[in-house]
Amino acid sequence: ANPSLLILAGDGIGPEVMAEVKKIIGWFGAKRDIAFDVSEDLVGGCAYDKHGTPLADETMAKAQEVDAVLLGAVGGPKYDKLDFSVKPERGLLRLRKEMDLYANLRPAQCFDALADFSSLKKDVVAGLDIMIVRELTSGVYFGEPRGIFTEGNERVGINTQRYTESEIARVARSAFELAKRRDNKVCSMEKANVMESGVLWREVVQEVHDKEYPDVELSHMYADAGAMQLTRWPKQFDVIVTDNLFGDLLSDLAAMLTGSLGMLPSASLGAPMANGRPKALYEPVHGSAPDIAGQGKANPIACILSFAMALRYSFDLGDEATRVEKAVEKVLADGLRTADLMGPEGGKPVSTSEMGDAVVKALDTS
Ligand code: NAI
Ligand code: MG
Repeated sequence: ANPSLLILAGDGIGPEVMAEVKKIIGWFGAKRDIAFDVSEDLVGGCAYDKHGTPLADETMAKAQEVDAVLLGAVGGPKYDKLDFSVKPERGLLRLRKEMDLYANLRPAQCFDALADFSSLKKDVVAGLDIMIVRELTSGVYFGEPRGIFTEGNERVGINTQRYTESEIARVARSAFELAKRRDNKVCSMEKANVMESGVLWREVVQEVHDKEYPDVELSHMYADAGAMQLTRWPKQFDVIVTDNLFGDLLSDLAAMLTGSLGMLPSASLGAPMANGRPKALYEPVHGSAPDIAGQGKANPIACILSFAMALRYSFDLGDEATRVEKAVEKVLADGLRTADLMGPEGGKPVSTSEMGDAVVKALDTS
């Protein structure tokens, strides 16, 4: 059977950037004889408009069946006043929760043509390609007890950092599996010096390594030192695995080593399915960008690179993923720039669809 993909374009610029991904899917069918069974459905505000809920049960069921879900973005001012239970974001949260997507992958990849965009020195970021794996479904954002309580004559705010052995082990496995497809190197970050959950994190990651992935190079680092090292010399890392809270901070930090929000892809992975590949949702990091929606200004590259991640991690088409990334590299080197990428050095201004067309054209030669 052909690999199956559910496209949920969503709201705002979501459908605009997704239209460019569809051109790439078309190219694979026509030029490489790689066909995908693509289905499309609604998520977010557009789903609320049609069904009164940001994610219909049938859509949820479809997401559980396919090899991968590709999502655009959800939300917009039109929906800001909706009750929390039906807000567009709830559609996304339901997908993540019911698919149990516990490993959030955020690459920080620097395309040479954009190295000047970084706030760091060019030689620190040029050629950078690292991956942060953040635990997404547990830790201090979920642990009990939590709440604001009264203690004596004052209030106290409480959150609890809590990790079970199995929660740590499964995200560690995700990181080791990724490393095997990359540079075979994992650095685990916690604060075992001051946190019990950190002590357990370090022990379990080491145990999973020793028993199941002895050939992957593993190191451990305190997360605060990790933040320093990420800005000092990020190229020392390949895969970084860390908890929900530290991962939230470190992945945002790493992302900005390399430039614009319009360039950043992500993946959220869950447990392996029958075919051995993980349950997966791919999406750009950016939102629905209502300020530029409908104007042909959105940069489609974040969504295109999210599809490239799907090729690599869900469809076992790593070479084809590299082909897409090379095509992106080429159009950037040729100077093509959507508005968000227009720096002081200038470039050829292009619209969303012109950028997509250029990437498709570059696929022929990449
Ligand atoms: P945003 O990411 O939509 O936009 C932030 C800024 O970056 C805006 O100035 C926007 O024009 C620009 N931008 C974002 N993506 C771009 C692209 N591909 N090309 C060029 N410029 C781009 O975040 P914001 O404005 O905070 O939120 C807007 C809406 O999106 C809200 O309703 C929010 O809830 C929702 N949102 C949805 C997310 C998702 O679907 N995963 C994530 C973040 C926000
Ligand atoms: Mg964050």
